Amino acid sequence: MKITVIGTGYVGLPTGVGLAELGNDVICLDIDEKKINQLKSGKVTIFEEGLEDLFQKNTANGKVTFSTSFAESIPESDLVILAVGTPPNPITKEADMKYIKAAAEELAHHLSGYTVIAIKSTVPVNTGNAVEDIIRRTNPSADFDVISLPEFLREGFAIHDFFNPDRIIVGANSERAKDVIRTLYEPFKDKCTILYVSRQSSETIKYASNAFLAMKIQYINEMADFCETSGADIYEVAKGMGLDSRIGAKFLVPGPGYGGFCFPKDTNAMAYMGKFNGVDLSLIETTIKSNERRKINMAKRILDMVSDKKNPTIAVLGSAFKGGTDDCRESPALQIIEIMLAHDVNIRLYDPQAMPNTKAILGNMITYCNSAYEAIGGADALAVLTDWAEFKELDLEKIKMLLTKPQIADYRNTFDCKKAKELGFEIKSLGRKL
Ligand code: UDX
Repeated sequence: MKITVIGTGYVGLPTGVGLAELGNDVICLDIDEKKINQLKSGKVTIFEEGLEDLFQKNTANGKVTFSTSFAESIPESDLVILAVGTPPNPITKEADMKYIKAAAEELAHHLSGYTVIAIKSTVPVNTGNAVEDIIRRTNPSADFDVISLPEFLREGFAIHDFFNPDRIIVGANSERAKDVIRTLYEPFKDKCTILYVSRQSSETIKYASNAFLAMKIQYINEMADFCETSGADIYEVAKGMGLDSRIGAKFLVPGPGYGGFCFPKDTNAMAYMGKFNGVDLSLIETTIKSNERRKINMAKRILDMVSDKKNPTIAVLGSAFKGGTDDCRESPALQIIEIMLAHDVNIRLYDPQAMPNTKAILGNMITYCNSAYEAIGGADALAVLTDWAEFKELDLEKIKMLLTKPQIADYRNTFDCKKAKELGFEIKSLGRKL
C-alpha cells in the first residue's frame, strides 16, 4: 500500500518506519525542512529503542522516504495518516487543532483517486467531522473517507508496541475505508483484536484510556503515601491488588507523578471537554490536581533532607519523563528540579539520553555531568527521578564515598533500601516504611 504519514515526531516516525517494515511504501512528510533534511541524510531525529536499525534498513531499501512536499506525496497515496502535534491551548488546555486543520486543508488540494485519511493524533471528539468538512470545502470533488485510528504507542517502547499492539481501534463510518484498514492490518489479524467502532467512539476511547491510566497511577501513588504511614509496603500491596484480573498488575508502580506529552495533555483536554459538554468529570479533575500536588511534595521531601545547609547541592539522576526516552516534555523530574532551583539549590544532573533536551529547557541554570558518579561527586544528597535501568547498576558504597552526607531520595525505588540502610544511608523511598 502507498502511505503518507504527516508529522515525523514520536508517533509519526516510528509509525512510518513500522509500516515500511510491514512492506508498505511510506513517505514521511513534515513541514519542518530541517527535520526532513536530517532524516534524508540518514539521521534519526528522536531516540527510540530499535528505531535506528529499522530506519536504516527501510531507508536503504527505499521503503520509507522523506519529503516536505504535499504535491509529491499525497496524489499517489491510498492512505494518509495524520500524526501531527495537538499541543494544549495555553489558556483552556484544550487540544489545539491548528496543525491538524492546516494539514487537512493542504492535503485536500492534492487528493487524487480514493484516499483514506486516518487521524492518528489525539484529537477532541468530533474532529473527524471537522476534518471531513475542511476537505470537502477545499476540494468538493475529492473521493475520500476520514477515519479515526488512535495511537497507543508508549515512548521508549514505540517499536515494540507497534509490532505487538494490545488492540487496534478503528473509528470508521464507511465499509470502503474499513476494507483499506483490513488490508493494512492483515499482519495483525491473528495477533490482537481489531475493533471497528464509530469515529466518535474511537476518538473517545483514546482519551478515556489515557485518563483512566493516569488515574490508576495517581491512585497507586496515593496508596504509596498511605503505606508510608501505615507500615505496609506498596510493592506487596500492588502485587496483591494486581492479582485481581479486574484490576490488573500493570501501571501500579509508584513514582514522582505521571508526565510525558500524553497523560498531562490528555487529562486536561478531557477535563475541558467535560466542562464544555456540561458533564461532571471530577475524577479526572482530581487526578490532575493530585498529580500536581505530588510533584511539589516530592520536591519538598528533598529540600527537607538538605534544610540544614545553605545553598546545598543535589545530584539528580534523570530528567526524562521516564526511562527509555530522551523526551522531557511535562517531565516530573524537570518540574521537581525547577521547584528546587527556586529554593536556592544547586543541581548537578545526569541523564543517559535527555541532556540535549534538558539543556534546551534549563540552559545554564544547572550543571550537566557526563556520568552518574560525576553528578554525585561532592553533592549533599542524591535524588533519582527517572527510572533508567542503568541507575540500578550503581554501586551504593561508591555513592556513599562521593556524597558529603549519605542521603538519597529514591523516587523510582531504584536501590535496595535494606542494603542502603545497612550502609548508613538515610533513604526516602516511595511507599515503604523504613
Ligand atoms: C502513554 C500511554 O501509555 C500510551 O498508550 C499513549 O499512546 C501515550 O501515552 P507514554 O506517555 O509513552 O505513553 O508513557 P507511559 O509509559 O504510559 O508513562 C506515562 C507516565 O506515567 C510516565 O511519567 C511514567 O513514569 C508514569 N508511570 C507509568 C508511573 O509513574 N507508574 C506506572 O506504573 C506507569
